[in-house]
Amino acid sequence: MRALLTGGAGYIGSHTAVAMLDAGHEVFVVDNFANSSAESIKRVEQITSRTVKLYEADVSDKAAMDRILGEVAPDVVIHFAGLKAVGESVSKPVEYYRNNIDTTLTLLESMKDNGVKRIVFSSSATVYGDNNQPPFTEDMAKGMCTNPYGWTKWMQEQILADANVADPELSVVLLRYFNPVGAHESGMIGEDPKGVPNNLMPFISQVAVGRRDKLTVFGNDYDTPDGTCRRDYIHVMDLAEGHVKAAEYSLNNKGTEIFNLGTGNPYSVLDMVNSFEAACGHPIKYEIGSRRAGDVQDSWADATKAAKVLSWKAERNIDQMCLDSWNWQMKNPDGY
Ligand code: NAD
Ligand code: WQD
Repeated sequence: MRALLTGGAGYIGSHTAVAMLDAGHEVFVVDNFANSSAESIKRVEQITSRTVKLYEADVSDKAAMDRILGEVAPDVVIHFAGLKAVGESVSKPVEYYRNNIDTTLTLLESMKDNGVKRIVFSSSATVYGDNNQPPFTEDMAKGMCTNPYGWTKWMQEQILADANVADPELSVVLLRYFNPVGAHESGMIGEDPKGVPNNLMPFISQVAVGRRDKLTVFGNDYDTPDGTCRRDYIHVMDLAEGHVKAAEYSLNNKGTEIFNLGTGNPYSVLDMVNSFEAACGHPIKYEIGSRRAGDVQDSWADATKAAKVLSWKAERNIDQMCLDSWNWQMKNPDGY
């Protein structure tokens, strides 16, 4: 199949590009490099020995998207493009609503005008909010989000589902990611956050490689076995392979389907620190700080629907996640 990946130069998009190419599909990427560079796609080409046509454009630019969709004529669009920093979304809510909602609206308009009927969307476990109890199942009512970023995902899901009500010929697959970590086993592509990382894994790996002094663990007074929050960390290549299954599923299905992409196994912040220490072979310096505003205590998936319907299951454990993050970080201490 021909797949257009919006935001495909980013962390999850570049890994999905590899998985799609490995599965024999053709990959096209559109990205404005707001949070990435063309280097990731060059490396995707090196890993796979395949070519990827890369368009530099803003997904909110209707004329550009019409040109690209017209030229590519994709069977499916996998829509990663968006801004994703939770803390930044609190200080720049308008930018986040503008970018994340506009890209999705423009993409839907352009898909309609160009006869493209299938979309796989990057949603997030954040839509379960802070009032549902894990393990989260897809049929739970969406919750109250704790930040503007989360609301953009919540709203984009609604927009996509509504578009499908109006056009039953559409196939809309909403993928709710849990906590993606790790990197491709080659260590050639990985997560390359700009500035101080917001997320746990890139922070730990920058401490491990000596770019940062120590990790602050945000609270150890939660009602969990070691007092730190628990998350469902998922290897980015497992996540990428979930997209291949979702895109293939969309070829033969219409309507809106939601899938959790997680492992179903919760790990605490200190579990991750311990596993990373084993991967890198030295201690990770950390201190216990206060709780971070907006954090939920526990988040993990019930991943049975994806197993049943997509025949997909995450295979890589947290040791592999840490080993691959470390491999990427060591080979690319300053990112791309
Ligand atoms: P990323 O920032 O690495 O990738 C997003 C890509 O979108 C970047 O390459 C960026 O340049 C591009 N982009 C942003 N706005 C654009 C625009 N207007 N036009 C064109 N390109 C644009 O982030 P990621 O971690 O790969 O996340 C991909 C998607 O998955 C995002 O939608 C994110 O919200 C979602 N998601 C991520 C996580 C996570 O923890 N990484 C979890 C749940 C959901
Ligand atoms: C994980 C755990 C922190 C950093 C976020 C988004 C979510 C999704 C994935 C993005 C928490 C703790 C972290 C640090 C720490 N989407 N932590 N010290 O918050 O579960 O999810 O990323 O696109 O929408 O909210 O992930 O990696 O930030 O935090 O102790 O320096 O690590 O408190 O318990 P989170 P995270």
